[in-house]
Amino acid sequence: MRTKYAAGNWKMNKTFEEGKILFSEVTNMVKDELVNPNVKVVMGVPFPYLSSFANLINTEKVALAAQNCHPKASGAYTGETSVPMLKSVGVSYVIIGHSERREYFEESDAFIAQKVDSILAEELTPIFCCGETLAQREDGVHFDFVRGQLSNSLFHLSADALKKVVIAYEPIWAIGTGVTASSEQAQEMHKVLRDHLASKYGQEVADEVSILYGGSVKPNNAEELFAQPDVDGGLVGGASLDSRGFTDIAKSFPG
Ligand code: 13P
Repeated sequence: MRTKYAAGNWKMNKTFEEGKILFSEVTNMVKDELVNPNVKVVMGVPFPYLSSFANLINTEKVALAAQNCHPKASGAYTGETSVPMLKSVGVSYVIIGHSERREYFEESDAFIAQKVDSILAEELTPIFCCGETLAQREDGVHFDFVRGQLSNSLFHLSADALKKVVIAYEPIWAIGTGVTASSEQAQEMHKVLRDHLASKYGQEVADEVSILYGGSVKPNNAEELFAQPDVDGGLVGGASLDSRGFTDIAKSFPG
């Protein structure tokens, strides 16, 4: 069975003290309340907090994510953070290819592909984000566009490597807007993406890849989204900043 995820992306929010409280609250609630052994809670927190928050984790149900990385292991890249550095402070997941990084920092599919390689080389897990704009959806090119994002950044991987990637489908029009993709729209795209993986790697491999949905996931819509057969959880922005709500999202999986 595929691992299910409630992954939080705090983005550029919370001071250290505020973040420490939020992180501890989630960790403690998840430890006490989350009973589904197949669900993993991941929190993507700002870089300066990673090392300290790693020490707050008191359950295997919770893991730490960085929100970005540089593809090189070390060197003259002022201001950047490498995967070996992240690993050395207890990070196990790295969010890459987020639409905000693609848009504001002009990150290309090829650059993101290099990050995938550097994360897998250190045996960490990439959370690879993809998703279309509203204009692309309205033009009817959304399936092809997102398939292309996968092909361009993931299809150089071996089947064994691909199985270690977590994909997050985040339609840009649903991020931070309060407009969620309907559960049918999410399921439809997730199925398209899984079929695309199957076309390259075979169904067995495709069936092992967790595909998360992101874009205005809230405690009141998580259950319906997570009930879809190809939706393996959520990458949660705004709602991950509230400990009770985010823990409730993590408890929204069927079974
Ligand atoms: P929201 O949940 O705030 O829409 O953000 C989604 C997101 O971008 C997670 O990476």
